[in-house]
Amino acid sequence: MGMRAYYFRKLARYVQPKEFKRVKVVRDKTNPQISIPELLFLRWGIRTLRPQTVVEIGSFCGASTSIMADQLQRLGKGRLYAIDLFSLSSPGKGHGGDYWKTFDQTMKPYIGWFEKIEGDSRMIPWDRPIDFLFIDGDHSEAGVSADIAKYAPFVRQGGGIFLHDYLDSPETNSLVKTAVDRTLLRDATYRKLGVVSSLVAFQKMR
Ligand SMILES: C[S@@+](CC[C@H](N)C(=O)[O-])C[C@H]1O[C@@H](n2cnc3c(N)ncnc32)[C@H](O)[C@@H]1O
Repeated sequence: MGMRAYYFRKLARYVQPKEFKRVKVVRDKTNPQISIPELLFLRWGIRTLRPQTVVEIGSFCGASTSIMADQLQRLGKGRLYAIDLFSLSSPGKGHGGDYWKTFDQTMKPYIGWFEKIEGDSRMIPWDRPIDFLFIDGDHSEAGVSADIAKYAPFVRQGGGIFLHDYLDSPETNSLVKTAVDRTLLRDATYRKLGVVSSLVAFQKMR
């Protein structure tokens, strides 16, 4: 079986067919760094865990942010905190460019469901419980490890932790996997739920 067929077979476990179209429409409005199967998996996580507080690290143009906010809106509960360097990013730090303008445009339909937090994820103050954590910011091993170390302790029992670019890609060179395998994967507190494409999911068990 080819890789593509393999991923779609795995994905079928998580997806309602009518959601394909909705996700595609939202995604096509952004400059996405994340695939449709991964967005559907992320959306499945929100739909299944029904979180009150969602934290995203690394929003870029808002593809993943809008998919998660859209699902919160549909559930009628929850709030998403979108942490990104946004206008503070530069070619040497973060993505660079004025992608935050696209983010603002993408997120217009979800005003009231999210809060934009501009800054370095390692520097901004955070002290609240989290029900759903999505990490897709600094992809260096130190960056991913720091985000896990800072935010995972705030995840409530039963909450989800999803991380993007877990598997090999020329950009990440598997550094995300190195960081995740040294932390969450080794820790019995967390159960691996699965991997779709390059998005890995864990649940906090205690
Ligand atoms: C791969 S992109 C995120 C893609 C996005 N999740 C999507 O669905 O398209 C990574 C983002 O993280 C931001 N970023 C990188 N390092 C960061 C840091 N230390 N703190 C906050 N944001 C960071 C980058 O500027 C960029 O916007």
